[in-house]
Amino acid sequence: MAKKTVRDVNVSGKKVLVRVDFNVPLDKEGRVTDDTRIKAAMPTIKYLAGEKARVILMSHLGRPKGQVNESYRLDAVAVRLEQLLGAPVRKVDDCIGEQVRQAVDELGEGEVLLLENLRFYPGEEKNEPGFARQLASLGDILVNDAFGTAHRAHASNYGVAQLLPAVAGFLMEKEITMLSQVLGSPGRPFVAIMGGAKVSDKIGVIDNLLTKVDVLLIGGGMANTFFKAGGLDIGKSLLESDKVELAGQLMQKAEEKRVQLLLPVDVVVAPAVSPDADARAVPVNAVPEGGMILDIGPQTVQQFSDRLKNAATVVWNGPLGVFEMEPFAHGTMGIARALADSQAVTVIGGGDSAAAVEKAGVAGRITHISTGGGASLKFLEGKELPGVAALQDK
Ligand code: 3PG
Repeated sequence: MAKKTVRDVNVSGKKVLVRVDFNVPLDKEGRVTDDTRIKAAMPTIKYLAGEKARVILMSHLGRPKGQVNESYRLDAVAVRLEQLLGAPVRKVDDCIGEQVRQAVDELGEGEVLLLENLRFYPGEEKNEPGFARQLASLGDILVNDAFGTAHRAHASNYGVAQLLPAVAGFLMEKEITMLSQVLGSPGRPFVAIMGGAKVSDKIGVIDNLLTKVDVLLIGGGMANTFFKAGGLDIGKSLLESDKVELAGQLMQKAEEKRVQLLLPVDVVVAPAVSPDADARAVPVNAVPEGGMILDIGPQTVQQFSDRLKNAATVVWNGPLGVFEMEPFAHGTMGIARALADSQAVTVIGGGDSAAAVEKAGVAGRITHISTGGGASLKFLEGKELPGVAALQDK
Protein backbone atom coordinates (compact mmCIF):
# COMPACT_ATOMS: atom_id res chain seq x y z
CA MET A 1 0.00 0.00 0.00
CA ALA A 2 1.30 3.37 -0.94
CA LYS A 3 -0.09 5.18 2.09
CA LYS A 4 1.71 5.85 5.35
CA THR A 5 0.52 3.91 8.35
CA VAL A 6 0.85 4.25 12.13
CA ARG A 7 4.15 2.42 11.84
CA ASP A 8 5.62 5.29 9.79
CA VAL A 9 5.12 8.02 12.39
CA ASN A 10 6.36 8.63 15.90
CA VAL A 11 3.32 8.64 18.16
CA SER A 12 4.98 8.42 21.55
CA GLY A 13 3.61 11.08 23.90
CA LYS A 14 1.61 12.62 21.01
CA LYS A 15 -2.07 13.43 21.03
CA VAL A 16 -3.34 11.06 18.34
CA LEU A 17 -6.80 11.62 16.91
CA VAL A 18 -8.08 8.27 15.68
CA ARG A 19 -11.08 8.19 13.34
CA VAL A 20 -12.76 4.83 13.92
CA ASP A 21 -16.03 3.49 12.53
CA PHE A 22 -18.00 2.56 15.64
CA ASN A 23 -21.27 2.80 13.72
CA VAL A 24 -22.56 -0.40 15.34
CA PRO A 25 -26.10 -1.72 15.77
CA LEU A 26 -27.74 -1.11 19.17
CA ASP A 27 -30.79 -2.87 20.65
CA LYS A 28 -33.83 -1.13 22.19
CA GLU A 29 -32.02 -0.83 25.51
CA GLY A 30 -29.14 0.85 23.71
CA ARG A 31 -26.69 -2.06 24.05
CA VAL A 32 -24.24 -2.99 21.31
CA THR A 33 -25.57 -6.07 19.47
CA ASP A 34 -22.64 -6.55 17.09
CA ASP A 35 -19.17 -5.44 18.20
CA THR A 36 -17.32 -6.55 15.04
CA ARG A 37 -16.30 -3.01 14.14
CA ILE A 38 -15.10 -2.24 17.67
CA LYS A 39 -13.02 -5.43 17.73
CA ALA A 40 -11.64 -4.62 14.28
CA ALA A 41 -10.21 -1.33 15.55
CA MET A 42 -8.53 -2.92 18.59
CA PRO A 43 -5.11 -3.62 16.99
CA THR A 44 -4.65 0.09 16.21
CA ILE A 45 -5.91 1.26 19.61
CA LYS A 46 -3.75 -1.24 21.50
CA TYR A 47 -0.70 -0.42 19.40
CA LEU A 48 -1.09 3.33 20.01
CA ALA A 49 -1.65 2.84 23.74
CA GLY A 50 1.38 0.54 23.86
CA GLU A 51 3.47 3.20 22.12
CA LYS A 52 2.45 5.67 24.83
CA ALA A 53 0.28 7.84 22.59
CA ARG A 54 -2.61 9.82 24.07
CA VAL A 55 -5.40 8.16 22.15
CA ILE A 56 -8.44 10.29 21.21
CA LEU A 57 -11.08 8.22 19.43
CA MET A 58 -13.77 9.80 17.29
CA SER A 59 -16.67 8.16 15.45
CA HIS A 60 -20.14 8.65 14.12
CA LEU A 61 -23.11 6.48 15.05
CA GLY A 62 -26.22 6.33 12.89
CA ARG A 63 -27.62 9.33 11.08
CA PRO A 64 -28.71 11.88 13.73
CA LYS A 65 -28.84 14.61 11.06
CA GLY A 66 -26.54 17.14 12.70
CA GLN A 67 -28.42 17.26 16.01
CA VAL A 68 -27.92 15.83 19.47
CA ASN A 69 -30.01 12.67 19.71
CA GLU A 70 -29.92 10.70 22.98
CA SER A 71 -30.34 7.33 21.23
CA TYR A 72 -27.17 7.90 19.22
CA ARG A 73 -24.76 8.60 22.07
CA LEU A 74 -21.59 6.52 22.17
CA ASP A 75 -21.73 5.56 25.88
CA ALA A 76 -22.60 1.91 25.21
CA VAL A 77 -19.71 1.74 22.75
CA ALA A 78 -17.36 3.08 25.46
CA VAL A 79 -18.53 0.32 27.82
CA ARG A 80 -17.85 -2.42 25.25
CA LEU A 81 -14.55 -0.85 24.28
CA GLU A 82 -13.42 -0.81 27.88
CA GLN A 83 -14.23 -4.53 28.21
CA LEU A 84 -12.29 -5.36 25.05
CA LEU A 85 -9.35 -3.15 25.97
CA GLY A 86 -9.17 -4.30 29.58
CA ALA A 87 -8.33 -0.72 30.56
CA PRO A 88 -10.40 2.35 31.40
CA VAL A 89 -11.86 4.40 28.56
CA ARG A 90 -12.89 7.94 29.36
CA LYS A 91 -15.98 9.16 27.48
CA VAL A 92 -16.98 12.81 27.04
CA ASP A 93 -20.42 14.08 26.01
CA ASP A 94 -19.20 16.27 23.17
CA CYS A 95 -16.61 16.07 20.41
CA ILE A 96 -15.42 19.71 20.37
CA GLY A 97 -15.28 22.55 22.87
CA GLU A 98 -13.87 23.33 26.29
CA GLN A 99 -14.96 20.18 28.12
CA VAL A 100 -13.31 18.06 25.43
CA ARG A 101 -10.11 20.13 25.41
CA GLN A 102 -9.81 19.72 29.16
CA ALA A 103 -10.30 15.94 28.93
CA VAL A 104 -7.60 15.80 26.24
CA ASP A 105 -5.21 17.85 28.42
CA GLU A 106 -5.79 15.44 31.31
CA LEU A 107 -5.14 12.38 29.14
CA GLY A 108 -2.00 10.51 30.19
CA GLU A 109 0.36 8.56 27.92
CA GLY A 110 -1.23 5.30 26.80
CA GLU A 111 -4.69 6.41 27.93
CA VAL A 112 -7.83 6.32 25.78
CA LEU A 113 -10.58 8.91 25.42
CA LEU A 114 -13.75 8.49 23.32
CA LEU A 115 -15.44 11.62 21.99
CA GLU A 116 -19.21 11.93 21.45
CA ASN A 117 -20.91 11.19 18.11
CA LEU A 118 -19.40 13.46 15.45
CA ARG A 119 -22.70 13.65 13.56
CA PHE A 120 -24.34 15.62 16.39
CA TYR A 121 -22.80 18.55 14.46
CA PRO A 122 -23.87 19.28 10.89
CA GLY A 123 -20.27 20.33 10.18
CA GLU A 124 -19.14 16.69 10.19
CA GLU A 125 -21.04 15.51 7.12
CA LYS A 126 -20.74 18.92 5.43
CA ASN A 127 -16.99 18.86 6.00
CA GLU A 128 -17.18 22.43 7.33
CA PRO A 129 -13.68 23.92 7.64
CA GLY A 130 -14.49 25.46 11.05
CA PHE A 131 -15.61 22.13 12.49
CA ALA A 132 -12.59 20.33 11.01
CA ARG A 133 -10.31 22.98 12.55
CA GLN A 134 -11.86 22.46 15.98
CA LEU A 135 -11.36 18.70 15.77
CA ALA A 136 -7.83 19.05 14.42
CA SER A 137 -6.89 21.42 17.27
CA LEU A 138 -7.33 18.50 19.69
CA GLY A 139 -4.51 16.39 18.26
CA ASP A 140 -1.03 16.28 16.69
CA ILE A 141 -1.66 13.45 14.20
CA LEU A 142 -4.69 11.86 12.54
CA VAL A 143 -4.85 8.08 12.28
CA ASN A 144 -7.74 7.00 10.07
CA ASP A 145 -8.90 3.46 10.83
CA ALA A 146 -12.50 3.99 9.68
CA PHE A 147 -12.55 2.05 6.43
CA GLY A 148 -16.36 1.82 6.67
CA THR A 149 -16.58 5.60 6.32
CA ALA A 150 -13.77 6.05 3.78
CA HIS A 151 -16.23 6.65 0.91
CA ARG A 152 -17.40 9.83 2.67
CA ALA A 153 -15.43 13.10 2.55
CA HIS A 154 -16.42 14.29 6.02
CA ALA A 155 -14.66 16.67 8.40
CA SER A 156 -13.18 13.99 10.66
CA ASN A 157 -11.66 11.83 7.93
CA TYR A 158 -11.11 14.36 5.15
CA GLY A 159 -11.08 17.91 6.52
CA VAL A 160 -8.82 17.04 9.46
CA ALA A 161 -6.48 15.18 7.09
CA GLN A 162 -5.79 18.51 5.33
CA LEU A 163 -4.73 20.04 8.66
CA LEU A 164 -2.74 17.31 10.42
CA PRO A 165 -0.32 14.60 9.25
CA ALA A 166 -2.73 11.76 8.38
CA VAL A 167 -1.88 8.05 8.24
CA ALA A 168 -3.75 4.76 8.06
CA GLY A 169 -4.48 2.50 11.01
CA PHE A 170 -4.03 -1.27 10.82
CA LEU A 171 -7.65 -2.00 9.90
CA MET A 172 -7.59 0.56 7.10
CA GLU A 173 -4.30 -0.92 5.89
CA LYS A 174 -5.66 -4.49 5.94
CA GLU A 175 -8.87 -3.56 4.11
CA ILE A 176 -7.03 -1.71 1.35
CA THR A 177 -4.40 -4.41 0.99
CA MET A 178 -6.96 -7.21 0.70
CA LEU A 179 -9.33 -5.42 -1.65
CA SER A 180 -6.48 -4.12 -3.83
CA GLN A 181 -4.98 -7.59 -4.02
CA VAL A 182 -8.17 -9.22 -5.28
CA LEU A 183 -8.84 -6.48 -7.80
CA GLY A 184 -5.25 -5.91 -8.89
CA SER A 185 -3.61 -9.33 -8.96
CA PRO A 186 -6.18 -12.04 -8.32
CA GLY A 187 -5.37 -15.73 -8.48
CA ARG A 188 -7.43 -17.34 -11.26
CA PRO A 189 -10.11 -18.42 -11.79
CA PHE A 190 -11.53 -15.28 -10.21
CA VAL A 191 -15.22 -15.67 -9.35
CA ALA A 192 -17.57 -12.91 -8.16
CA ILE A 193 -20.94 -13.56 -6.56
CA MET A 194 -23.35 -10.66 -6.66
CA GLY A 195 -26.65 -10.62 -4.84
CA GLY A 196 -28.92 -8.23 -2.98
CA ALA A 197 -32.29 -6.82 -3.79
CA LYS A 198 -31.53 -4.28 -6.46
CA VAL A 199 -29.27 -4.23 -9.48
CA SER A 200 -29.36 -0.40 -9.38
CA ASP A 201 -27.17 -0.45 -6.22
CA LYS A 202 -24.52 -2.59 -7.90
CA ILE A 203 -24.32 -1.43 -11.51
CA GLY A 204 -20.92 0.21 -11.04
CA VAL A 205 -19.52 -2.85 -9.26
CA ILE A 206 -20.78 -5.33 -11.86
CA ASP A 207 -19.49 -3.10 -14.65
CA ASN A 208 -16.01 -2.94 -13.10
CA LEU A 209 -15.90 -6.62 -12.12
CA LEU A 210 -16.74 -7.63 -15.68
CA THR A 211 -13.31 -6.31 -16.66
CA LYS A 212 -11.60 -8.42 -13.96
CA VAL A 213 -13.37 -11.71 -13.23
CA ASP A 214 -13.59 -15.01 -15.09
CA VAL A 215 -17.00 -15.98 -13.74
CA LEU A 216 -19.85 -13.84 -12.42
CA LEU A 217 -22.61 -15.56 -10.44
CA ILE A 218 -25.79 -13.54 -9.97
CA GLY A 219 -28.56 -14.22 -7.45
CA GLY A 220 -30.84 -12.35 -5.05
CA GLY A 221 -33.61 -9.97 -6.09
CA MET A 222 -31.35 -8.38 -8.69
CA ALA A 223 -31.33 -11.61 -10.72
CA ASN A 224 -35.02 -10.98 -11.55
CA THR A 225 -34.14 -8.00 -13.70
CA PHE A 226 -31.67 -10.20 -15.61
CA PHE A 227 -34.32 -12.93 -15.99
CA LYS A 228 -36.68 -10.36 -17.46
CA ALA A 229 -33.96 -9.18 -19.86
CA GLY A 230 -33.64 -12.82 -20.95
CA GLY A 231 -37.37 -12.95 -21.70
CA LEU A 232 -38.41 -15.03 -18.66
CA ASP A 233 -41.65 -14.65 -16.73
CA ILE A 234 -41.01 -13.73 -13.09
CA GLY A 235 -44.57 -13.65 -11.69
CA LYS A 236 -44.95 -10.87 -9.15
CA SER A 237 -41.28 -10.86 -8.11
CA LEU A 238 -39.41 -7.65 -7.37
CA LEU A 239 -38.41 -6.04 -10.65
CA GLU A 240 -36.63 -2.84 -11.58
CA SER A 241 -38.36 -2.37 -14.90
CA ASP A 242 -36.24 0.67 -15.79
CA LYS A 243 -33.09 -1.46 -15.48
CA VAL A 244 -34.05 -4.35 -17.76
CA GLU A 245 -32.27 -2.82 -20.73
CA LEU A 246 -29.17 -2.22 -18.63
CA ALA A 247 -29.20 -5.83 -17.41
CA GLY A 248 -29.24 -6.86 -21.07
CA GLN A 249 -26.26 -4.62 -21.77
CA LEU A 250 -24.34 -6.10 -18.83
CA MET A 251 -25.00 -9.60 -20.18
CA GLN A 252 -23.71 -8.47 -23.55
CA LYS A 253 -20.62 -6.94 -21.97
CA ALA A 254 -19.97 -10.24 -20.18
CA GLU A 255 -20.05 -12.00 -23.52
CA GLU A 256 -17.67 -9.49 -25.09
CA LYS A 257 -15.26 -9.81 -22.18
CA ARG A 258 -15.58 -13.60 -22.24
CA VAL A 259 -16.82 -13.63 -18.66
CA GLN A 260 -19.15 -16.50 -17.85
CA LEU A 261 -22.22 -14.83 -16.38
CA LEU A 262 -24.36 -17.45 -14.65
CA LEU A 263 -27.92 -16.82 -13.53
CA PRO A 264 -29.88 -19.21 -11.30
CA VAL A 265 -31.35 -22.27 -13.06
CA ASP A 266 -33.94 -22.80 -10.33
CA VAL A 267 -35.50 -20.53 -7.72
CA VAL A 268 -37.54 -20.73 -4.53
CA VAL A 269 -40.96 -19.12 -4.97
CA ALA A 270 -43.75 -18.27 -2.54
CA PRO A 271 -46.98 -16.28 -2.75
CA ALA A 272 -45.70 -13.79 -0.14
CA VAL A 273 -42.56 -12.70 1.74
CA SER A 274 -43.50 -14.43 4.96
CA PRO A 275 -41.74 -16.99 7.20
CA ASP A 276 -44.75 -19.34 6.98
CA ALA A 277 -45.37 -18.92 3.27
CA ASP A 278 -45.71 -22.04 1.16
CA ALA A 279 -42.22 -22.02 -0.42
CA ARG A 280 -41.12 -24.37 -3.20
CA ALA A 281 -38.31 -24.67 -5.70
CA VAL A 282 -39.15 -24.47 -9.40
CA PRO A 283 -37.09 -24.26 -12.59
CA VAL A 284 -36.51 -20.67 -13.53
CA ASN A 285 -38.81 -20.96 -16.55
CA ALA A 286 -41.72 -22.20 -14.43
CA VAL A 287 -42.35 -19.35 -12.00
CA PRO A 288 -46.12 -19.28 -11.30
CA GLU A 289 -48.06 -16.15 -12.16
CA GLY A 290 -48.71 -15.13 -8.54
CA GLY A 291 -45.33 -16.32 -7.25
CA MET A 292 -42.42 -14.27 -5.93
CA ILE A 293 -38.82 -15.38 -6.37
CA LEU A 294 -37.26 -15.22 -2.90
CA ASP A 295 -34.17 -17.44 -3.06
CA ILE A 296 -32.00 -19.44 -5.42
CA GLY A 297 -32.94 -23.11 -5.71
CA PRO A 298 -30.95 -26.23 -4.69
CA GLN A 299 -29.66 -26.96 -8.20
CA THR A 300 -28.30 -23.44 -8.44
CA VAL A 301 -26.61 -23.78 -5.04
CA GLN A 302 -24.94 -26.92 -6.39
CA GLN A 303 -23.92 -25.28 -9.66
CA PHE A 304 -22.57 -22.12 -8.00
CA SER A 305 -20.77 -24.19 -5.33
CA ASP A 306 -19.00 -26.18 -8.05
CA ARG A 307 -17.68 -22.92 -9.48
CA LEU A 308 -16.42 -21.88 -6.05
CA LYS A 309 -14.65 -25.19 -5.55
CA ASN A 310 -12.30 -24.52 -8.47
CA ALA A 311 -11.84 -20.80 -7.85
CA ALA A 312 -8.59 -19.21 -6.65
CA THR A 313 -10.19 -15.87 -5.75
CA VAL A 314 -13.79 -15.17 -4.77
CA VAL A 315 -15.49 -11.86 -4.01
CA TRP A 316 -19.01 -11.94 -2.62
CA ASN A 317 -21.40 -9.04 -2.16
CA GLY A 318 -25.08 -9.33 -1.33
CA PRO A 319 -27.30 -12.21 -0.18
CA LEU A 320 -28.88 -14.60 -2.70
CA GLY A 321 -32.32 -14.60 -1.12
CA VAL A 322 -34.34 -13.24 1.79
CA PHE A 323 -32.03 -15.08 4.20
CA GLU A 324 -33.53 -13.47 7.30
CA MET A 325 -36.49 -15.87 6.82
CA GLU A 326 -35.83 -19.58 7.17
CA PRO A 327 -37.67 -20.80 4.02
CA PHE A 328 -35.57 -18.44 1.88
CA ALA A 329 -32.22 -18.78 3.67
CA HIS A 330 -30.95 -22.04 2.13
CA GLY A 331 -29.36 -20.44 -0.93
CA THR A 332 -27.38 -17.83 0.98
CA MET A 333 -26.39 -20.31 3.70
CA GLY A 334 -25.34 -22.90 1.13
CA ILE A 335 -23.16 -20.41 -0.71
CA ALA A 336 -21.65 -19.21 2.58
CA ARG A 337 -20.66 -22.80 3.40
CA ALA A 338 -19.29 -23.40 -0.10
CA LEU A 339 -17.19 -20.28 0.26
CA ALA A 340 -15.83 -21.47 3.59
CA ASP A 341 -14.97 -24.89 2.11
CA SER A 342 -13.20 -23.38 -0.89
CA GLN A 343 -9.40 -23.13 -0.98
CA ALA A 344 -9.69 -19.72 -2.64
CA VAL A 345 -8.82 -16.34 -1.20
CA THR A 346 -12.32 -15.29 -0.17
CA VAL A 347 -13.34 -11.68 0.35
CA ILE A 348 -16.75 -10.50 1.48
CA GLY A 349 -18.06 -6.96 1.07
CA GLY A 350 -19.62 -5.95 4.39
CA GLY A 351 -23.22 -5.56 5.47
CA ASP A 352 -25.69 -8.34 4.66
CA SER A 353 -23.20 -10.88 3.30
CA ALA A 354 -21.05 -10.44 6.41
CA ALA A 355 -24.16 -11.10 8.53
CA ALA A 356 -24.90 -14.16 6.37
CA VAL A 357 -21.51 -15.82 6.97
CA GLU A 358 -21.91 -15.09 10.69
CA LYS A 359 -25.34 -16.74 10.63
CA ALA A 360 -23.92 -19.74 8.76
CA GLY A 361 -21.23 -20.02 11.45
CA VAL A 362 -18.37 -19.86 8.93
CA ALA A 363 -17.06 -16.30 9.40
CA GLY A 364 -13.77 -17.66 10.78
CA ARG A 365 -13.10 -19.55 7.53
CA ILE A 366 -13.35 -16.54 5.23
CA THR A 367 -10.07 -14.83 4.28
CA HIS A 368 -11.35 -11.29 4.72
CA ILE A 369 -14.72 -9.87 5.73
CA SER A 370 -14.74 -6.17 5.05
CA THR A 371 -16.06 -3.86 7.76
CA GLY A 372 -17.29 -1.51 5.03
CA GLY A 373 -20.64 -1.78 3.26
CA GLY A 374 -20.84 1.28 1.03
CA ALA A 375 -17.06 1.72 1.19
CA SER A 376 -16.28 -1.78 -0.09
CA LEU A 377 -18.79 -1.34 -2.93
CA LYS A 378 -17.14 1.93 -3.97
CA PHE A 379 -13.76 0.22 -3.83
CA LEU A 380 -14.99 -2.69 -5.97
CA GLU A 381 -16.33 -0.13 -8.44
CA GLY A 382 -12.71 0.92 -8.89
CA LYS A 383 -13.36 4.35 -7.39
CA GLU A 384 -10.90 6.23 -5.21
CA LEU A 385 -12.16 6.61 -1.63
CA PRO A 386 -11.75 10.20 -0.35
CA GLY A 387 -10.85 9.01 3.17
CA VAL A 388 -7.98 6.98 1.70
CA ALA A 389 -6.90 9.59 -0.85
CA ALA A 390 -6.47 12.13 1.97
CA LEU A 391 -3.80 10.03 3.74
CA GLN A 392 -0.10 10.77 3.32
CA ASP A 393 1.75 8.86 0.62
CA LYS A 394 4.73 6.76 1.64
C1 3PG B 1 -21.57 2.32 7.27
O1 3PG B 1 -22.16 1.76 8.19
O2 3PG B 1 -21.61 1.91 6.09
C2 3PG B 1 -20.65 3.47 7.60
O3 3PG B 1 -20.52 3.62 8.96
C3 3PG B 1 -21.10 4.74 6.93
O4 3PG B 1 -22.34 5.13 7.41
P1 3PG B 1 -23.26 6.12 6.56
O5 3PG B 1 -23.77 5.33 5.38
O6 3PG B 1 -24.36 6.57 7.48
O7 3PG B 1 -22.39 7.25 6.10
